[in-house]
Amino acid sequence: MNISFENQVALVTGAASGIGLATAKAFAQAGAAVALADVNGEAARTAADELKAAGFQAVGIRCDVSDMNDVEAMVKQTVSAFGRLDAAFNNAGIQNILAETADTTAEDFDRVTSVNYRGVWACMKHELQYMRQQGSGAIVNCSSLGGLVGAAERASYHGAKHGIHGLTKSAALEYATRNIRVNAVCPGLIWTPMVEQMIANGQKQAMESMVDFIPMRRHGRAEEIANAVLWLCSSASSYVTGQAISVDGGYVM
Ligand code: NAI
Repeated sequence: MNISFENQVALVTGAASGIGLATAKAFAQAGAAVALADVNGEAARTAADELKAAGFQAVGIRCDVSDMNDVEAMVKQTVSAFGRLDAAFNNAGIQNILAETADTTAEDFDRVTSVNYRGVWACMKHELQYMRQQGSGAIVNCSSLGGLVGAAERASYHGAKHGIHGLTKSAALEYATRNIRVNAVCPGLIWTPMVEQMIANGQKQAMESMVDFIPMRRHGRAEEIANAVLWLCSSASSYVTGQAISVDGGYVM
C-alpha cells in the first residue's frame, strides 16, 4: 500500500526530537507540507530548515502546548503557511519526576498534566475548529503504554496518558459523521532522547530490564511509531476512528 500525503498539510508537536521529528520527516517524505512545532523553537526551525534544504515543504514554529495562546497561534501559523490542515500528530510530552503519589507535589503534577494531557486537548480544540470548517481531517494523539497500564511512582504521567484515551474517543464520537477521524497511538519503549534522559537520571536498570518483558526483546525505533501515525492519518485507515493502537513489540496484549 502506498501512503501519499501529496497536496496535504501535516502538523506535528514535539517535532524537534525523537518520535515527533521522525514523524515530521516521514510526513515530508510522503509528500506533505509539514509544520514542525516545539517548545524548543530554535530546534524546530533548524529541523524545518533541514527538510527545506532537502527539497521538502516545512515550517518551524515555537509552541508550548501548555500555553493556549501558543497553541492557537500554532494552528493559525500552519494554515497561513500552507493554506489547510489535513493531519495533526499531538505528540509533545514530558516525563514526570519519579515520586510516590503521596510525595508528588501539585507543581510537578500540574507540570506533567499541563503538557501531556491538557496540551493534547488544547491542540485538538484548535485543530478541530479548523478541520470542522474545512470539512475533513485526521488527528492522532500520542498516548503510551503508560496510557494502558499503571506504574509505581509515575501516577501523573500515566494518569495523563490514560486521559488521552478519553479525549480521543470523545472527539472521535463528536466528529465521526463530519469526515474527521481521531485516534491515538501507544508507543512502547522507543529509543529517543527522552529515554536517554531517563537513563541519565538513574533509570538505566529499569529501562534494560523492561526489554526482558517485551515479547520482541528489543526497544522500538521512532520511525516505527511514525509509520503507525502516517497510516492512521491516511485514507488507508478511512474506517478507523476512536482507537488506540499499540506499537510496542507486543508488550501490552
Ligand atoms: P523527546 O523528549 O525525544 O521529544 C519530545 C519533544 O517534545 C521535545 O522536542 C521537546 O522539546 C518537546 N516538548 C516538550 N514539552 C513541550 C511543550 N510543552 N510544548 C511543545 N513541545 C514540547 O521524547 P519522545 O520519546 O520522542 O516522546 C514523544 C512522545 O512519545 C511523548 O508524548 C512521550 O510521552 C511519548 N512516548 C514516548 C515513549 C518512549 O519510549 N520514547 C514511550 C511512550 C510514549
